Amino acid sequence: MPSVAEIFETMAWGPAPEAAEPALAWLDQHGRKFGHFVGGQWRTAAQTFAVFNPADRATLAHAGQGSPEDVDAAVGAARQAFSAWSQTPGHLRARYLYALARQIQKHSRLFAVLESLDNGKPIRESRDLDLPLVARHFAYHAGWAQIMADELPDYAPVGVVGQIIPWNFPLLMLAWKVAPALAMGNTVVLKPAEFTPLTALLFAEIAETVGLPPGVFNLVTGDGETGAALVRHPGVDKIAFTGSTEVGRAIRQVTAGSGKRLSLELGGKSPFVVFDDADLDGAVEGLVDAIWFNQGQVCCAGSRLLVQESIERAFLARVRTRMAKLRVGDPLDKAIDIGAIVAPSQLERITTLVEAGRASGAEVWQPPDACPVDGWFYPPTLVTGVGPASELAQVEVFGPVLVAMSFRTPAEAVALANNTRYGLAASVWTQDIDQALDVARGIQAGTVWINSTNLFDASSGFGGYRESGFGREGGREGLVEYVRRVPRSGFRVSDSGPTPTVEPVRHAQPGTHPAERGTRNTEPGPLIDRTPKLYIGGKQARPDSGYSRLVSTPSGQVIGEVGEGNRKDIRNAVEAARAALASWAATTGYNRAQILYYVAENLAARATEFASRLAQMTGAVDAENEVELSIERLFTCAAYADKFEGQVHVPPMRGAALAVPEPIGVVGVACPMRRPLLGFVSLVGPLVSMGNTVVVLPSERHPLAATDLYQVLDTSDVPPGVINIVTGSRESLSKVLAEHDDVDAVWYVGTADGRREVEAASIGNMKRTWAHLEGETAVEELPTDETLRQAIQIKNIWIPWGA
Ligand code: NAI
Repeated sequence: MPSVAEIFETMAWGPAPEAAEPALAWLDQHGRKFGHFVGGQWRTAAQTFAVFNPADRATLAHAGQGSPEDVDAAVGAARQAFSAWSQTPGHLRARYLYALARQIQKHSRLFAVLESLDNGKPIRESRDLDLPLVARHFAYHAGWAQIMADELPDYAPVGVVGQIIPWNFPLLMLAWKVAPALAMGNTVVLKPAEFTPLTALLFAEIAETVGLPPGVFNLVTGDGETGAALVRHPGVDKIAFTGSTEVGRAIRQVTAGSGKRLSLELGGKSPFVVFDDADLDGAVEGLVDAIWFNQGQVCCAGSRLLVQESIERAFLARVRTRMAKLRVGDPLDKAIDIGAIVAPSQLERITTLVEAGRASGAEVWQPPDACPVDGWFYPPTLVTGVGPASELAQVEVFGPVLVAMSFRTPAEAVALANNTRYGLAASVWTQDIDQALDVARGIQAGTVWINSTNLFDASSGFGGYRESGFGREGGREGLVEYVRRVPRSGFRVSDSGPTPTVEPVRHAQPGTHPAERGTRNTEPGPLIDRTPKLYIGGKQARPDSGYSRLVSTPSGQVIGEVGEGNRKDIRNAVEAARAALASWAATTGYNRAQILYYVAENLAARATEFASRLAQMTGAVDAENEVELSIERLFTCAAYADKFEGQVHVPPMRGAALAVPEPIGVVGVACPMRRPLLGFVSLVGPLVSMGNTVVVLPSERHPLAATDLYQVLDTSDVPPGVINIVTGSRESLSKVLAEHDDVDAVWYVGTADGRREVEAASIGNMKRTWAHLEGETAVEELPTDETLRQAIQIKNIWIPWGA
């Protein structure tokens, strides 16, 4: 034991242990063995697995390995509880959620200790960060339950929700998922991660204590097999998942075509950008929080340091000095910075990745003697001398490993920051506000922290761009994941006529073009072929196949031909859309509105011609009405171009979070067969209005409604490449769009088979899909706010203020 005088000399920290006894006593009360919580009762588990303390490898308890029967019982209980819970008045639901928040606060120390024992995270973090945020999520969502009827009058809960969560923030992820789901009137089956089920079990007990009606919250513990059974279960209406991109991909594949709603929060490789004018000491402390918080096992960890070249050497020197002071050790010691790694498999993954990096030439720096020998620990690690394409710079290590690279200019910083398949979060450090906001806008990520890092709040949506997944958790944008629009009485799908079926393709032969058939060529010279081509990059382009297909009236009379688009045409169209994206996305909403009004105006000038063509093509008696509604819809989209705006959140910190809507990017659109003009406008209008560029497959049955628009688009100042149109087979071309890695989202209206194909094919780059069955959904009657919401993704930019 050092003397006080010696301590004054070394300034070393002594141990400050938090007692484990209350949590161990709670485990003992349960005989250290747990079943599942189903329908308000504890269900004995036929099989169990051991739960370890990663800090000393001791077995803490045994938890149930959920079987398909357990999952089935839980889904059944949730289904049974749903009708009463969904009709429970918002005020009553609010009281339950508030009671949960209060109970969590009351038992917060027990929760925090149990969490640190189970996960290995420092008690300082579980006590000061996880638990207050957990309580905040329940309290915040109690508020949403209270005001749901006023704020979301046309919405109803989705139904039974299956929620699968990871081990890095076991209780916090539970709160992020369970609170909004219950607030909106859904019932839940939760599957925690196999490494860390304990706080979820304690939560189930709290749910019992507050008298939450049986079946509203169900808990089945187990591994990936249990999760897979939940995903497959036909009684589940929505899956919400947080975890690895690989499992997210598998879940997308399994749920394809099932009609289940899906939100995925996947991995990240988030950049931490430091400019030469930053407060460097502040940035170093920020970096500690960014990458060494929770042992770096954080989906949004700032794992890629990008530092301006002029300060690289000095900054890295400060980082190393700070790293040498980080204390790795017993998670229950209050003076510890870095705890234990959750499991040996995770430790092995980290070690393997770092050693592979070292073998390929990376310089790996770790403070000496940093780790205790018992338990699963890994020291804070700085990797330099790697290229942006190296494995360590690209792969999510999910450990306390920082990879450093440098940049020269702000543009290079943004390019490097975006050089990843992920897009979850970023930190930007600079004292120059213009530079900070400009870089924040340029980085493709769901959350950007300016001069700060790892800030979270229930009021601000959290979620990813690109392969980091889709859907948001928190805020109003997170709520909409748990509700569905209730069709108003105005929905009249059946009035709109039957859905035309896909007919066998008839390719044009010599003499089949209506201009040629039965008529002698009276013009001097050869016949002029008016077959419309494809519309790519603002120009008409011949289809690569060299074929065209016949277009006929409902009675079979041929009235025209269109190009038979193929894979290559789609590739060209995507390239054109990508090239047009940056400037269209940067165009002001006001400008986009002007252009959409202009399209409407030019369509109105030719309304009679369009109506007669529509009547001829579709046999519709209300063709004039369809044109009129299309013009009106264009006006609505123009109106919203500068009005569908973001929000300013004021979370409990000194600062604000700007929730800024941004376009998704290049979107593929497969239009319905029926109402070919209105269907086209109803899907393309909102996307273009929000700054996306599109590749559209127009109505396969009545494509001339779209090809007739080429001239309208040409004369309305729509920039080349913003709207690209490829005629041909909806089913095969939409699959090509869904497979294309440079397409960011696909909207599809069509058949059940087509929906399955599109959703399954989307897993390549985890693009967002929004699919409807024609005949079930009339796209022209989809509410505008929902369509616009699907056309954007929200970026939260956190801006601190004050000292
Ligand atoms: P994981 O993705 O396998 O586990 C997350 C959850 O999914 C767990 O509850 C697990 O039981 C469940 N699960 C696994 N397979 C499933 C399936 N086929 N169907 C349904 N549910 C399934 O993550 P894991 O293996 O624990 O960690 C591996 C890597 O994943 C980490 O090294 C890290 O890179 C990443 N990860 C990312 C997280 C994030 O928050 N973004 C969280 C956890 C892991």
